Amino acid sequence: MEVIIKQNYDQICEEAAEIILQRWKKKENLSMGLATGKSPLGLYKRLITLYKNNKMDFSRVVAFGLDEYLGLKENHPQSFAYYMKKNLFQHINIKKENIFRLKGDPEDINSHCREYEEKIKEFGGIDIQILGIGRNGHIGFNEPSSSLASRTRVKTLTQETIEANSRIFKNKENIPRHCLTIGIGTIMESEMIILLASGKEKSEAIKLSVEGPVTASVPASILQLHPVVKIIIDKEAACLLAHKDYYQWIYDNKYKVEGFIKNSKEKKS
Ligand code: F6R
Repeated sequence: MEVIIKQNYDQICEEAAEIILQRWKKKENLSMGLATGKSPLGLYKRLITLYKNNKMDFSRVVAFGLDEYLGLKENHPQSFAYYMKKNLFQHINIKKENIFRLKGDPEDINSHCREYEEKIKEFGGIDIQILGIGRNGHIGFNEPSSSLASRTRVKTLTQETIEANSRIFKNKENIPRHCLTIGIGTIMESEMIILLASGKEKSEAIKLSVEGPVTASVPASILQLHPVVKIIIDKEAACLLAHKDYYQWIYDNKYKVEGFIKNSKEKKS
């Protein structure tokens, strides 16, 4: 797990955008798993700027939505499909046929979830999965107690998550209680995972996920078992971490390790 602590939200987004850009330079048909919510908004703005400045081209990029409210149609202003369109897709040159999402109104939920998993496989899996984190440690909408091996399926949201997301709903009674979400097992098959978190309200979840035991009670703690995870957070979200100075030390000295690796490769060849 690489824990990258930045001064503020803007810097988190800058770091994440740079990682994505570098990865895209090596693989233009990058397949990305995309979260909604507050956390990735600044990252999406930066990706749009990269596109507008001709630094990144999305014509071969493939996108997979992470989750969706059950019961909401694609054009519902609070649907995740609508969010992705408004905050990213309509501003870049991603092809419509390369955008995949979980539908809030599928005809047959189980076969829809199965087909979604198959679609991800068809594209060779997710190269970079972008995640936010819930205050209770959820990733996607895999709430505490979700199986750590779970696949794409229906979940019932916790009261806490419903409350946290209620800011976007005018009529509080209409807030969906169920969603479709990619499973934790599905997330763990991604090649790289980038988790973004900002603010003190996320500090407890970050502390438990990074330094606590791996447990279904804190779904994001499973990320400790993934080989390429970048936890990119600001000072506030990092404030409870016991080893934050060490994480900073690793980051500050990273270029030296990269130098050793480069030298050893050159010596070999
Ligand atoms: C959203 C999602 C959720 C959010 C999490 C944090 O697609 O899957 O896991 O990432 O609830 O939400 P924000 O970023 O709004 O605090």
